[in-house]
Amino acid sequence: MKLTMVGTGYVGLVTGTCLANIGNHVACLDVDQAKIDGLNHGQVPIYEPGLDELVIRNHKSGRLSFTTDITAAYQSAEAIFICVGTPSQADGHADLKYVMAAAEQIGKAIEAAPGQHGGLDPSDDDLPKIIVVKSTVPVGTNARVRAMIQSQTNKPFRMASNPEFLKEGAAINDFNKPDRVVIGAEDKQTGERLHELYETFVRQGNPIYVMDIPSAEMVKYASNCMLATKISFINEVAALCEAFGADIEQVRLGMCADKRIGNQFLYPGLGFGGSCFPKDVLASVNMGQVTITPADLLRAVYEVNQRTRYRFISKIDQHYESNYANRKFAIWGLAFKPRTDDMRQAPSVTIIEHLLDNRAEVVAYDPVASEAAQRTFGNRITYTDEAIDALDGVDALIICTEWDEFRHPDFDEMRNRMKHPVIFDGRNLYRPTQVVEQGFAYYSVGRRAIRPSAQPQT
Ligand SMILES: NC(=O)c1ccc[n+]([C@@H]2O[C@H](COP(=O)([O-])OP(=O)(O)OC[C@H]3O[C@@H](n4cnc5c(N)ncnc54)[C@H](O)[C@@H]3O)[C@@H](O)[C@H]2O)c1
Repeated sequence: MKLTMVGTGYVGLVTGTCLANIGNHVACLDVDQAKIDGLNHGQVPIYEPGLDELVIRNHKSGRLSFTTDITAAYQSAEAIFICVGTPSQADGHADLKYVMAAAEQIGKAIEAAPGQHGGLDPSDDDLPKIIVVKSTVPVGTNARVRAMIQSQTNKPFRMASNPEFLKEGAAINDFNKPDRVVIGAEDKQTGERLHELYETFVRQGNPIYVMDIPSAEMVKYASNCMLATKISFINEVAALCEAFGADIEQVRLGMCADKRIGNQFLYPGLGFGGSCFPKDVLASVNMGQVTITPADLLRAVYEVNQRTRYRFISKIDQHYESNYANRKFAIWGLAFKPRTDDMRQAPSVTIIEHLLDNRAEVVAYDPVASEAAQRTFGNRITYTDEAIDALDGVDALIICTEWDEFRHPDFDEMRNRMKHPVIFDGRNLYRPTQVVEQGFAYYSVGRRAIRPSAQPQT
C-alpha cells in the first residue's frame, strides 16, 4: 500500500519504518524541517534500539521517504495515519490541536487533488482514502476528525482508529510482534483493508480485533490506565511497607505468586513518567468529568504517582535536613525509563529541579539521554561519559533510571570516588545488606533505610 504517516515522532517513525520494511511505500511527513532534513541524511532523531538500521535500509531501498511536502504526502497515500502528539493541556484534557490541524490539512489536500477520492491520478484512485487516527485520543475524536475533513471537502473518505501499543525502548519488537492489533473501523471494507495491512505482524497467531471506533479509542486509554494503576498500587503498598517496617521486595514475591495477580508492572520505584501514562490517565479523568462519570480511581492513581516522587525527595531532604549548601550529587539515569532517551515527565527532572532549587550541584550520567537532558537543563548541570566519573567528590549518588549497567557496579571504586558513601536508590537495584556491607548508607523504596554502624555523619 501507499501510506503516509503524519508526524514523524516515536509512533510515526516506528510505524512508518516497520510498514515500509514489509514492502509498503511510506512517506513520513513532519512540520519539523530539521527533523526531516536529518532523517534524509540518515540521522534518526530518537534513540530506539534497532531503529537506525531499519530506517537507513528502508530509506535506501526507496520504500521509506521523509518529507515536509503536505500536498504530495497526502495526495499520494491510500491510507493516512495521524501520529501527532496529544499532550495534556493545563487542565488535563488531551490537547487535540495537532490532530485537528492535521485533519484540516488532509481535508484541503483531498479537495485540491484531481482524483475523485483526493488522489494524484484520477485513473488509479478507485478506493476512498482511509484516515487512520493512531494518536491516543479521547473517545469521540475520530468523529471530530471526520467532521473537520468534511468541512474541507465533499470527496468521500473512510475513518479508522488504530491505537498504538508500542513501548519505547522495545518499540520495533512491539510493532513487529504485537500482543494484539486493534482496529476501529466505520465499515467492513475499511476494517478488512487495515486487517490485511497488519496480517504479516501476527503470523504467530496473536489477534487482530476489528471493532467500532469508540471502543477502539477507549481500548488504548483503558490499557494505559490499567498499567499506570498497577504502578501506583505497588508504590502505595511500598509506602505502607516503609511505615510498618515491611520489605516491599518480600511482599512483592508473596503477592505476585498468585497467578491472578502476576508480576508484570508491579515494581516499586519513582512512579510512572514518559509521554503517555501521565497524560493518558489525566485525559481519562477528564473524559469522566465531561460525561459526569467520575473516574475517581484514576484520579487517585495520578495523585499517588505524583506523591511517589515527592516521598523519595523527602528522604533526601531528611538526610540533609534540607540543607543542600555546598552539596554535590551524582544522578545515574535521566530518561524516564531504560533503553530510551525520552525525558518527558521523567522523575529525574523533578528530583534534579529540587536539588538545583536548593542550590546543590548536580552531575549526571545516562547512557543515551544526556543530549535530550541538555535541552531541559542546559548547562545548569554537568554530564559525564561514564557512570563512575559522575561520582567524583559527590555527597551522594541518586539512581533515577534502572539501566542494566548500574546493576553490578564496582562498589569499592564508587566508595573511593565519592566524598560520602551514600546511595538514594529510586529503583531498588541492590540488596540493602549487600550495599551496607560495602560501607554505604542506603535508601531505597519500600524498604528500611540502612546506615552502616561506622558511617560518619554527613
Ligand atoms: N511515544 C510512545 O511510546 C507512544 C506509544 C503509543 C502511543 N503514543 C501516542 O502517539 C501519539 C504520538 O506520540 P509520539 O510520542 O510519537 O509524539 P512525538 O511528539 O514524538 O511526535 C509527534 C510529531 O508530530 C509532528 N507534527 C505535529 N503536527 C504535525 C502536522 N500537522 N503535520 C505533520 N507533523 C506534525 C511533530 O513535529 C512531531 O515530530 C500521541 O498521541 C501518543 O500518546 C505514543
